[in-house]
Amino acid sequence: MSTIEPLNEVRVLVTAGPTREALDPVRYLSNRSSGKMGFAVARAARDAGARVTLVSGPVTRKTPRGVWRVNVESADDMHGAVQEYLPDTDIFISVAAVADYRPEDIAANKIKKAGETMQLNLIRNPDILAQVAASENAPFTVGFAAETENVIENARAKLFHKNVDMIAANRVGADQAFDQDTNALTVLWSDGELDLPPQAKPELAKALVECIARQFRANRIKGGRG
Ligand code: CTP
Repeated sequence: MSTIEPLNEVRVLVTAGPTREALDPVRYLSNRSSGKMGFAVARAARDAGARVTLVSGPVTRKTPRGVWRVNVESADDMHGAVQEYLPDTDIFISVAAVADYRPEDIAANKIKKAGETMQLNLIRNPDILAQVAASENAPFTVGFAAETENVIENARAKLFHKNVDMIAANRVGADQAFDQDTNALTVLWSDGELDLPPQAKPELAKALVECIARQFRANRIKGGRG
């Protein structure tokens, strides 16, 4: 007898990994995200029966079988890819560590060293998650909050300011979350929260996807977005 999977035929869009913001033809600004959690979330959503598209920043990871993968480099590229797939999305899960700023100019040639100090002008990147949440017919929208302090307070503030349906909060540091095999999350939504204790990322992703599926269905019944 087959069991009904919690996200059967639901269309899920996941972003994962870091972005790279070019400075010149050989240099970029980036961060320590490995894509492990985002890829684990994509795999867990697939296992829950979803049709999954994974927009990934530059990481060397195998594409989970049955998942449609789109590779991007910069936050701008990621924004473009997300916009493209958004009309066919029921649930958006923003796991990527998107660079908040990019260099104002990308030098056409390798920048030569000159003085003892150097200044870089950075400009804001689009907030992909906030824009998805604010879009017409927005999908059920889930963000991550990487925090080094006041984790829950800062994550609740992000839930509110970005107007998303759910935030998965985690404490990050040199040896926490980024590029690690285990992690812990506190999942927050408007009228509830759930602690997911430290565990291997594949199990954590499964528990997170189950929690998302429950809230997604509850929202549908309430007639909310999603
Ligand atoms: N995010 C995004 N686009 C950005 C920045 C962040 O979509 N330009 C998403 C991330 O994928 C994550 C969430 O927003 O789901 C929160 O990211 P985080 O870095 O924790 O927060 P920021 O919004 O960047 O806020 P701050 O850096 O000020 O804490």
